[in-house]
This record gives sequence, structure tokens and C-alpha cells, in this order.
Amino acid sequence: MKNSLLDYILRARLPVTIFIIIASFTLTYFASRAERDGVGYTPDQPINYSHKLHAGEMKIDCQYCHVAVEKSRHAMVPAVATCMNCHSVARKDKPDIIKLKEYYDEGKPLRWKRIHRVPDYAYFNHSVHVNKGIDCTACHGEITKMEKVGQMNSFTMGSCLNCHRNPHEKLPELKNVNLGPEYCSACHR
Ligand code: HEC
Ligand code: HEC
Ligand code: HEC
Ligand code: HEC
Ligand code: HEC
Repeated sequence: MKNSLLDYILRARLPVTIFIIIASFTLTYFASRAERDGVGYTPDQPINYSHKLHAGEMKIDCQYCHVAVEKSRHAMVPAVATCMNCHSVARKDKPDIIKLKEYYDEGKPLRWKRIHRVPDYAYFNHSVHVNKGIDCTACHGEITKMEKVGQMNSFTMGSCLNCHRNPHEKLPELKNVNLGPEYCSACHR
């Protein structure tokens, strides 16, 4: 009995089991890579806020809303109060603006879906890049043409290093930018 069971496992089942294990590891690996890579991720947001309209057509400066992008690690997404600077008057009767005002009146934060993200174990800082004159579009694409924001570029380690090694090729308009760091502790602190 024992022997024949062992036989069975060795001859037939084992290869199948190994195949399944390998296949599922491979699939999980690629699935998690794709998820972390994030290119193309364009979620629906709680309010249909358009960058194309506000930052494109109306030419509102990025930093009117992303106030910290020159000063700190994070760019920051604006509070509802920033929107209400205009929308206490502008388009008050539109459904999205009525919804916006409800959040404002109830003091509820808007839970915008986060799009770009590097894992916690990697360190990214906006101000060091932006203060060197690197434009938002170099990393985020043409935001001023986006009705809805999506991730254009991958932020894997390889893509960070790719620019750090060839900044003059990636950013031909910036003459006196240094090479970006490649030593591990620059980004893993
Ligand atoms: C009037 C305010 C406002 C202005 C001006 C503005 N943004 Fe935004 N931005 C937002 C809000 C609100 C969100 C979150 C909702 C969304 O993703 O559309 C956001 C999201 C983003 C995101 C994605 C954040 C994430 O979750 O990863 C990027 C990138 C971005 N903005 C870049 C820009 C750039 C570049 C400009 C200038 C060309 C700009 N924004 C101008 C309000 C603004
Ligand atoms: C500097 C003024 C200003 C700021 C700040 C501003 N908006 Fe607007 N927004 C406008 C104006 C003006 C329009 C109408 C433009 C048009 O239709 O030509 C508009 C249109 C809109 C619309 C479309 C309404 C409709 O259905 O016609 C939405 C939604 C919206 N804004 C959301 C937001 C959100 C969310 C924020 C904050 C992140 C924000 N706006 C910040 C001025 C502003
Ligand atoms: C060198 C590449 C690079 C440049 C240039 C850049 N970003 Fe980003 N941005 C990123 C990365 C990477 C993330 C994810 C950061 C994280 O997870 O900590 C991000 C995230 C964001 C976010 C959402 C999270 C946060 O940090 O608050 C916003 C908003 C944003 N960027 C706006 C901007 C704006 C506006 C500019 C131009 C003034 C800009 N970015 C320039 C790479 C860049
Ligand atoms: C489009 C080009 C570009 C991309 C993409 C880019 N960087 Fe950089 N980064 C630079 C350049 C150029 C410098 C050096 C600036 C200088 O010192 O002149 C730099 C500097 C840095 C520094 C050093 C900051 C300091 O304190 O001196 C860190 C950390 C960093 N980048 C992290 C990242 C990470 C993490 C990513 C990917 C998520 C990334 N960068 C993507 C161009 C880029
Ligand atoms: C310019 C910034 C930068 C530098 C320099 C850097 N890393 Fe990374 N590293 C990252 C980012 C960003 C991620 C997250 C990548 C992702 O989400 O796929 C990462 C991910 C990793 C991972 C996780 C596995 C993976 O591939 O996703 C390991 C391990 C790692 N780095 C090791 C290193 C070592 C060792 C060095 C030095 C030789 C180094 N890193 C230098 C930015 C950097």
C-alpha cells in the first residue's frame, strides 16, 4: 500500500505538483510585479476633477494645489478648502460641486485614490528633483492634458536608475544637472 502510494506520487503526482507550484510562483511573481509597476493605473475618483480643465485650460499652477512639491518629500494633494476658494462661487449648481460642498460643510476629507507610489522601503523626495528644474512631465507625463490622471511611467528601481545614469539623455534641456546617486543607501535608508 505505502509503496504504491509513494510510487503514484513519484511517478505521476509529483511532476504535476511541481509544475503547479512553479506555475503559481511565476504567476504570483508577474502579477505582483505588474501591480507594483502600476503603469496605466487610472482609477475613478470620488469627484470628477479634471487636470486638463484646471491645470491645462485654466492654467492654474501645479503648486497652487501641490503646495509641498518644492519643499518636501511629498507633493501633497489639496484639501477640499482649496477647491472651495473658487467653488463656493463657481459652478455651484453642478452635481460634483454640490458633492464637494457636502464634504466641505461636514469637514470630511476627500479620499482621492492614490496613483503613484513607491514602496515604503524606498526613499523618494520631490523637492530634490523639482528644485533641480526637473519638470513634472519627466516623471508624470502630460498631466495638463489628462481628464483623469493615470500613471504614465514605471517607478521601479530600474527606471529610477535609468534616469540617474543618463540624466542628460532623459533631460536634454537641463545642462548642469548632476548624475543621480546609484549607491544603495541613497534610496534605501
Ligand atoms: C486645483 C488643484 C490642482 C491643480 C492646479 C493641480 N492638481 Fe494635481 N491633483 C489635484 C487633485 C485633487 C488630485 C487627486 C485627484 C486626481 O488624481 O485627479 C491630484 C492628483 C495629481 C497627481 C496624482 C497623484 C497620485 O495619487 O499619485 C499628479 C501626478 C498631479 N496631480 C500632478 C499635477 C501637475 C503636474 C499639475 C500642474 C500641471 C497639477 N497636478 C495641478 C489637484 C490639482
Ligand atoms: C482657481 C479656481 C478653481 C479652483 C482652485 C478649483 N476649481 Fe474647479 N472649476 C473652476 C471653474 C471656473 C470651473 C468651470 C470651468 C468651465 O466649465 O469652463 C471649474 C469646474 C470644475 C468641475 C466641473 C463642474 C461641472 O460639472 O461643470 C469640477 C468637478 C471641479 N471644478 C472640481 C474641482 C475640485 C475638486 C477642485 C479642488 C481640487 C477644484 N475644482 C478647484 C475653478 C476652480
Ligand atoms: C523625478 C520624478 C518625479 C518628478 C520630477 C515629479 N514627481 Fe511626483 N511623484 C514621483 C514619484 C516616484 C511619486 C510616488 C512617491 C511616493 O510614493 O512617495 C510621485 C507622487 C506624486 C504625487 C502623489 C503623492 C505625493 O507625493 O504627495 C503627486 C501629487 C505628485 N507626485 C505631483 C507632482 C508634481 C506637481 C510635480 C512637479 C512640480 C512632480 N510630482 C514631479 C515622481 C516625480
Ligand atoms: C527623470 C530623471 C529622474 C528620475 C526618473 C528619478 N530621478 Fe532621482 N535624481 C535625478 C537627478 C538628476 C538627481 C541628481 C540631482 C543633482 O544633484 O543634480 C536625482 C537625485 C536623487 C536622490 C538624491 C537626493 C539627495 O538628497 O541628494 C535620490 C534619493 C533620488 N534621486 C531618488 C529617486 C528615486 C527613488 C527615483 C525613482 C522612484 C528617482 N530618483 C527617479 C533624476 C531622476
Ligand atoms: C535611485 C534609487 C535607488 C537606488 C540607488 C537603489 N534602489 Fe533598490 N529600489 C528602489 C526602488 C524605487 C525600489 C522599489 C521598486 C519597485 O517597486 O519595483 C527598489 C527595490 C529594491 C529591492 C526589492 C526587490 C525589487 O527588485 O523590487 C531590492 C532588494 C533593492 N532595491 C536593493 C538595492 C540595492 C542592493 C541597491 C544598491 C546596489 C539599490 N537597491 C539601489 C530604488 C533604488
